[in-house]
Amino acid sequence: MKTLIIYNSVHQGNTKKIAERMGKVLKAKLVKPDEIGLKEILNYDLIGFGSGIYMWRHHRSLLDFVNRLPDLKDKRVFVFSTAGKPDKLSHRRLKEKLESKGADIVGEFSCEGLDKFGPLRLIGGINKGRPNQKDLKNAEGFAKKLIKKM
Ligand SMILES: Cc1cc2nc3c(=O)[nH]c(=O)nc-3n(C[C@H](O)[C@H](O)[C@H](O)COP(=O)(O)O)c2cc1C
Repeated sequence: MKTLIIYNSVHQGNTKKIAERMGKVLKAKLVKPDEIGLKEILNYDLIGFGSGIYMWRHHRSLLDFVNRLPDLKDKRVFVFSTAGKPDKLSHRRLKEKLESKGADIVGEFSCEGLDKFGPLRLIGGINKGRPNQKDLKNAEGFAKKLIKKM
């Protein structure tokens, strides 16, 4: 199974840690949205899309990338994020875009990430040390489940 993970992690590198752990389990190639051709992604059997959450949605670079993708009919994909306060709603925008391309969303994962947005910086941020070892283990478990689904 050929797996690709497309991610961006601009705030604290939180999502990068999750992407790398999933990538290890899935033996995936990891790229940023500007590091891969739009058609090239069709060579993969499973594609992950992840970033931190900014104003209740994934990073703009990831959403813009998905907008430009060709048809993804029946392509298996998964969605992940780290966030100050993870919630399913923040995945909605990305999921809708992927679904509108015909992709089959086979899983989603989110966990807390260190958040120093705005005034939070004054107290050293919230979710200190996250993602932690437990979060990484959970990401690993999620990736293992994906393999079983394929
Ligand atoms: C400008 C900005 C906006 C953010 N907006 C949200 C938000 O709407 N919801 C949330 O739960 N976290 C929010 N966060 C926290 C980030 O999602 C969190 O720190 C995430 O782990 C960052 O991932 P990264 O280090 O991979 O970029 C925001 C952070 C920044 C800097």
